[in-house]
Amino acid sequence: MTHANPLAPEAVVAVVGTGAMGAGIAQVAAQAGHPVKLLDNRPGAAEKAVEGIRAQFAKMAEKGKLTVEAAAAAGARLQPVSELAELADCALVVEAIVENLEAKQKLYADLEVIVGADCIFGTNTSSISVTAIGAALKRPERLAGLHFFNPAPLMALVEIVSGLATERAVAETLFATAAAWGKTPVHAKSTPGFIVNRVARPYYAEALRLAQEGAADYATIDACCREAGGFRMGPFELMDMIGHDVNFAVTNSVWRAFYNDQRFLPSLLQQELVDAGFYGRKNGRGFYDYREGAAKPVAASEAAQPVPGKITICGTSTVANALAARLAAAGVAYTQQVSADGRVAEADGAVLYVTDGRSATRRAAETGIGNCVLLDLALDYAKSTRLALAAATQAEMAAVNAAVGLLQAAGFQVSRFADVPGLAVMRTVAMLANEAADAVNQGVCSAAGADQAMRLGVNYPQGPLAWADQIGVAAVRDVLANLADSYGEDRYRISPLLHQAVFAGRKIHD
Ligand SMILES: NC(=O)c1ccc[n+]([C@@H]2O[C@H](COP(=O)([O-])OP(=O)(O)OC[C@H]3O[C@@H](n4cnc5c(N)ncnc54)[C@H](O)[C@@H]3O)[C@@H](O)[C@H]2O)c1
Repeated sequence: MTHANPLAPEAVVAVVGTGAMGAGIAQVAAQAGHPVKLLDNRPGAAEKAVEGIRAQFAKMAEKGKLTVEAAAAAGARLQPVSELAELADCALVVEAIVENLEAKQKLYADLEVIVGADCIFGTNTSSISVTAIGAALKRPERLAGLHFFNPAPLMALVEIVSGLATERAVAETLFATAAAWGKTPVHAKSTPGFIVNRVARPYYAEALRLAQEGAADYATIDACCREAGGFRMGPFELMDMIGHDVNFAVTNSVWRAFYNDQRFLPSLLQQELVDAGFYGRKNGRGFYDYREGAAKPVAASEAAQPVPGKITICGTSTVANALAARLAAAGVAYTQQVSADGRVAEADGAVLYVTDGRSATRRAAETGIGNCVLLDLALDYAKSTRLALAAATQAEMAAVNAAVGLLQAAGFQVSRFADVPGLAVMRTVAMLANEAADAVNQGVCSAAGADQAMRLGVNYPQGPLAWADQIGVAAVRDVLANLADSYGEDRYRISPLLHQAVFAGRKIHD
């Protein structure tokens, strides 16, 4: 990789489209020292944006995040303009106008005859092909995606998106400039959803499918994703916050752009919400009810069970070790033995395993162990406060209760799911890792870039590929293979990159 220089702080930056994103980007550029020109086709909008950003700078000065002088200087670098011709001296024009191909093409085609030969174009589009925007230009090599996340001043990630004609030096200059602005840039190839909006799809899709199949209710799936998965928000509360109109539109656009690939299939459950006009928080109803007086959703937890009389911790896996340490800390007696078949514990007849993507009922049938109880994945079994489990249909009630009692004795809240394959966190993380692996395999981004994008763009507790390495790539491959077998769908096909890592006996991040 070459190391281009960032734009010099005195280089003039233009932001066209001064709505939510444009104003945020202008704020970041002005704070980094650039003179910034703001243009909007709505009369008064650019002036209003400048006022708003100056107020932000003043607030930052009040909180001690900027000196009063720096805040005033940054504010003074903002200049609202009303004509494209006033952008002639710009070194970079960032576009954050309406999400419409023709509008973006026209803007840049009009600008091309105004700005100098060295001027770079950076589009903030979330979903339009950078290659297609460039097709309208005489010199498409000067255009790249400069994809900020909302709110731009706070979110660290910027995807630097190269279209087919984008010159590498242009992408590198934008990369270096975003870094100089205090952001963390990641290179991506112009493909549907770029990195974040593609790799994040399974976070919603698997949760929607779990709910549709009656695995657990929304609040319980959300709680497991938060408390065991370590995600900041559960998928349902997150979709409610994003808005179902927006989230469903993004899913549809990625699905269509990949020629209806099953992996991105939209959900009828979300279609229903959109049809009903239940867009989420913004209008009071989504998966949850936000209207005044509505009851707060509560995750389902199993009633307290007695501590089992005989607990055995099997093997020395991360899970087994964490259970042992937690039981010891709680003063609960247990014995230890080796694990011949991957079981992590036994409790009064129950045999506990971590899910491998088979249902407990199938696993019981295939192993002859009727009292089979499966545990979900946790980001950190030593610390998580909740864990999902599922029991085989063949399992005796007393055995299931003993498994619940063991986990409760170890300090977990226990959410019992219907016996769906892969449970919640394991299935979600396996699919996130698979999508990230495919993006890497198709040259969209590097493995490090994929992980960084998901940590910084959507606050995942860990990059999906690093997570797959932690679980073990072979275990992730098994989960996906068993899901594919359970559902008979192409949706769970395994990325060749994951397969290669398994066969090579390597981690993805080796
Ligand atoms: N909102 C997000 O979360 C988000 C995140 C990343 C990227 N984006 C992308 O950023 C862009 C802007 O999104 P937003 O949420 O800020 O929208 P917005 O509606 O808040 O702002 C768009 C602004 O552009 C102006 N505008 C529209 N057409 C114009 C034109 N031809 N010339 C000049 N000004 C024009 C509008 O008057 C408006 O002020 C879109 O491409 C969107 O996909 C949005």
